[in-house]
Amino acid sequence: MRIGMLTSGGDCQSLNATMRGVAKALYNMYDDLEIIGFEEGYKGLIYADYHIMKPSDFSGILTEGGTILGTSRQPFKLMRVADENGLDKVEAMKHTYKKLKLECLVVLGGNGSQKTANLLREEGLNVVSLPKTIDNDLWGTDMTFGFQSAVNIATNAIDCIHTTAASHGRVFIVEVMGHKVGWLTLHAGIAGGADIILIPEIPYDIDVVVDAIKSRTKKGKRFSILAVAEGAISKEDAQLTKKELKEKKKTSPAYPSIAYEIGAQISEKTGQEIRVTVPGHMQRGGAPCPYDRVLSTRLGAAAAQLIKKKEYGYMVAVKNNDITKVPLEEVAGKLKTVDPNCSMIQDAKDMGISFGDN
Ligand code: F6P
Repeated sequence: MRIGMLTSGGDCQSLNATMRGVAKALYNMYDDLEIIGFEEGYKGLIYADYHIMKPSDFSGILTEGGTILGTSRQPFKLMRVADENGLDKVEAMKHTYKKLKLECLVVLGGNGSQKTANLLREEGLNVVSLPKTIDNDLWGTDMTFGFQSAVNIATNAIDCIHTTAASHGRVFIVEVMGHKVGWLTLHAGIAGGADIILIPEIPYDIDVVVDAIKSRTKKGKRFSILAVAEGAISKEDAQLTKKELKEKKKTSPAYPSIAYEIGAQISEKTGQEIRVTVPGHMQRGGAPCPYDRVLSTRLGAAAAQLIKKKEYGYMVAVKNNDITKVPLEEVAGKLKTVDPNCSMIQDAKDMGISFGDN
């Protein structure tokens, strides 16, 4: 009984905890189990870079951040494009899989990685995948592992900013990761008590943002904290096509990221002192939080169960606090975004948090 395992895409906390969950459950089920670990994600499968793992490899890694297998980004759109030496990557992956006589491939990954997992399924490989990403944007699961740990870090950043913002009476912007969606910013923003939360799903009006700051100042509040998603977008920019937006960026002043652009506009319109903090990749680092450790253990055990039952072509998932499975073909290519009308946003608005929209 031989299975392959890989971690793909951007890393996050709890990758190791998840692999441990899969492996420990499988070792308990099979006496003859051999796990092949592919190095640096799909790259290892393409170029046959792998090693045989031992049960001891999975010990002591529950709390370790990063991934013991290494990872890399192998864009899905390039999977069908030959590499610089003319190698057909999909055929190469199938070849490695078959040569090693794998029973199945276990993939820990986010959106792009799930698409490739589905492609391999379509090509006839047995695949079981697990939902990884701090962005929580995977369709088909309420929760991804890594998300809650990242929420903790982003929240901690906002907490730290609170004390310094209060002392100086400044406007602070904390830019939160999350790619094209606002889950991380929404959760960290609420948990950190941000006054204004800007997410891609709710394009902002800069004048509404400025009014929210001015109104706090009028009420005697000496500072304001904005939690801004890295993918936040203004109402005007949201109207533009991708091409028009690209053109606009070429001609307008170049800011390192959206938080700096918003900061410059607020400073110009209010005359207030602005500071920008970008916790960046810190949000993906360090030990997984207890929630993620539990989630990873449960998802890992569920993936092992699927393998035992030879139920392939699924991603294990969370639905209403239960662990379940979703067909990979349903997951691939879909994004789970924040519903601007969800109760969480309504609750936040009810207590005075501005989302820059009205
Ligand atoms: O998908 C996880 C994520 O951290 C996103 O939140 C972020 O946009 C992106 O990865 C950063 O990617 P990279 O590590 O390649 O800079």
